[in-house]
Amino acid sequence: MKISAFNGSPKADRGNTHVMVSALLEGAAQAGAATENVLLAGKKIGHCIGCFTCWTKTPGKCVLKDDMESLLKSYMASDIVIMASPLYIDHVTGIMKDFMDRSIPLVCPQFEMGDAGQTRHAARYGKYPAIVWVSNCGFPEKDQFAVLRLACERRIRNNKAEIIAQIYRGQGPLLTSESPELKPVLSDYKDLLRRAGKEIATKRKIPDDLQAELDKPLMPEDEYSKSVNESW
Ligand SMILES: Cc1cc2nc3c(=O)[nH]c(=O)nc-3n(C[C@H](O)[C@H](O)[C@H](O)COP(=O)(O)O)c2cc1C
Repeated sequence: MKISAFNGSPKADRGNTHVMVSALLEGAAQAGAATENVLLAGKKIGHCIGCFTCWTKTPGKCVLKDDMESLLKSYMASDIVIMASPLYIDHVTGIMKDFMDRSIPLVCPQFEMGDAGQTRHAARYGKYPAIVWVSNCGFPEKDQFAVLRLACERRIRNNKAEIIAQIYRGQGPLLTSESPELKPVLSDYKDLLRRAGKEIATKRKIPDDLQAELDKPLMPEDEYSKSVNESW
């Protein structure tokens, strides 16, 4: 069982997303999974230039020569992929969007009718990794992830992949807070993430009671907003 995480935060291993991904991977490793933590910010990933060479002259291979070829190899060699990005203007970061755009060599140009009566691209491969989406954002409410959630769910329609879990964290900047009062709260939240990592590695899902725990705010929302406003 191989679980790879692709983290699109420009803050790489200094970011709040990294706190979430690291704890999830720790739990997965404790359950026996081989893990890989890829920080996309350190990789050379050019913008897709829309030439479709990966669908015509060199099927499955992009014309741009950068780190994407080896990243897509790691992606496809994984049983489970954690796609992780902070929320930027209600969506993923530009780094993650480039990574997603550059994954079109993984599917074929042909149209086919998919589930729910929507056209999609035909698969290039027989099997794709299952997906876990992870994000955090500055605002406190869970609903801030409405656009991202929909985009993530729609993205997988093209490659017959399955989303097996989604972990979204409002109040994200608290994850790297050094406030002594928050220490026990953050320690408990990381324990929950480790448990989620174990569940994902062993059962490919997060039980409802654990998901409910993961979704709880780290502190009351009004208190959080007040402390954010005082910090600027
Ligand atoms: C350009 C930019 C756009 C952002 N857009 C949103 C947003 O739409 N909603 C939100 O709640 N937070 C937004 N944030 C806050 C980040 O999601 C938040 O700081 C997050 O913790 C960053 O994660 P990281 O430390 O892993 O990079 C934005 C931050 C930046 C820099």
